[in-house]
Amino acid sequence: MVATHPQRFDATYWAFFATHVAPRVPSRAVMIDLGCGPGLLLRDVGQRFPDATLFGYDVTPAMIAHARQLAWAGVKPMFGVHDVTSASLPHAVGSVHLVSMSSVLHVLDEPLPVLAEIRRVLAPGGVFLLNDWIRQPLATYLAWRRDALGETDTRRGFRLFPVHNKFTTEDWQWLLAEAGFTVVHHDLLRPSHRTFVATRRD
Ligand SMILES: C[S@@+](CC[C@H](N)C(=O)[O-])C[C@H]1O[C@@H](n2cnc3c(N)ncnc32)[C@H](O)[C@@H]1O
Repeated sequence: MVATHPQRFDATYWAFFATHVAPRVPSRAVMIDLGCGPGLLLRDVGQRFPDATLFGYDVTPAMIAHARQLAWAGVKPMFGVHDVTSASLPHAVGSVHLVSMSSVLHVLDEPLPVLAEIRRVLAPGGVFLLNDWIRQPLATYLAWRRDALGETDTRRGFRLFPVHNKFTTEDWQWLLAEAGFTVVHHDLLRPSHRTFVATRRD
């Protein structure tokens, strides 16, 4: 995850962020990265929003330990071990301007309660930035693992295929609508991932 971070969050991602996310977020925003992994995305966001208050949550203690030891140019984010499927976010109703979730929602058995919790904390006009896997044909997925990851053995690809290829773009759109979000923009920034900018539908 650390090694692939620069490829996953490349110039294309940040151009998308600058055009479709940043203009919707105040400079002194409260931002959460949910399932923040090693904290690198939050570090990159913090460089673009030095006056923001940042929070990173992840269920894996080793991820939070990695995030906590990163060097921070500005104010250090608050990181916490947190399972989004079993506990409410420690934030008041309507108090957060940006919630980001990258490659996390597809692993959760029940996405709707988590989406409801994200919606609860989002401020009016706040953004939910969802970046996640979309379904690809098996041959395309295995070819991507071979070419992009250098995997010669297909066992891992077959094991992860049902995990990474769970939802189509239409499934994500349906889930977001069902959870009370309006998708204001979405794009395929990499063949494997679609990025949605969603706001609370009131
Ligand atoms: C594929 S990693 C993505 C990490 C990071 N968002 C990134 O893009 O680099 C998925 C992350 O979700 C976290 N995660 C999985 N289930 C979770 C849960 N129930 N609550 C919080 N985090 C969870 C994992 O620990 C892991 O760090």
